[in-house]
Amino acid sequence: MADLKERIKEAVSLIKSRTKIKPEIGIILGTGLGALADEIETEETVSYSEIPSFPASTVIGHAGRLVLGKIGGKVVVAMQGRFHYYEGYSLEEITFPVRVMRALGAETFIVSNAAGGMNPQFETGDLMIITDHINLMGVNPLIGVNDERLGPRFPDMSQSYDRKFISLAEEVAREEKIRVQKGVYVAVPGPNLETAAEYRFLRLIGADAVGMSTVPEVIVAVQAGMRVLGISCITDKCLPDALKPANIKAIFKVAGEAEPKLTRLVSKTIGRM
Ligand code: HPA
Repeated sequence: MADLKERIKEAVSLIKSRTKIKPEIGIILGTGLGALADEIETEETVSYSEIPSFPASTVIGHAGRLVLGKIGGKVVVAMQGRFHYYEGYSLEEITFPVRVMRALGAETFIVSNAAGGMNPQFETGDLMIITDHINLMGVNPLIGVNDERLGPRFPDMSQSYDRKFISLAEEVAREEKIRVQKGVYVAVPGPNLETAAEYRFLRLIGADAVGMSTVPEVIVAVQAGMRVLGISCITDKCLPDALKPANIKAIFKVAGEAEPKLTRLVSKTIGRM
């Protein structure tokens, strides 16, 4: 198999053969939070299956495609359909699209996810601007031979989530009257939800929300020199001493209901980046 840089180049060539537009921002949307992609004034869509080295989407009915176009007056590339570690993809596969977005010219990375809320102040349906993260997946997308052309061997992660973007998103939320929280996101591999003892542990180590995505993509985005904005939708309350059985249908429902305000927050924030 060709080296990573070579494979990125092949993927980029295919996309560039389809559209001349040059995205400034790469976007990956979380479970049940994909409506933003529908708001993009689309210039071109490219199926993952057409792009060399892109992981094949396993979910039936979800072909998976890149949407390239404009939102909030900015040129963006968004993934419609994302990959999770629990589906069996390697972290290199999961983060390959981020590398491609960067190589297409995107210097900003925006990511959303559905997450369980462990901070007792949080309500279901709240949006949480991610201020920092904890990688508890037990794996790392940067393990292996490092290509210095893609980023440093030992990337600094002291300010992974851009402070200006955090303030900007807060400001937009205030203006739009959207309730937002701020906090730390911890990533676990999944796919099972956590035990009460695990939620207690995750809260104790400093996390406000827990989910099964985002951190691998952010690690790669930071290594590649991108500025990152991350937003979680709190879909369920994960309070260890009052834990109710997780209801996946209810989690999707909450994400769906919160989607319009997430879309509004992200598109207005993009407009002012
Ligand atoms: N745990 C992990 N991932 C999640 C949760 C949770 O409680 N809720 C939504 N995604």
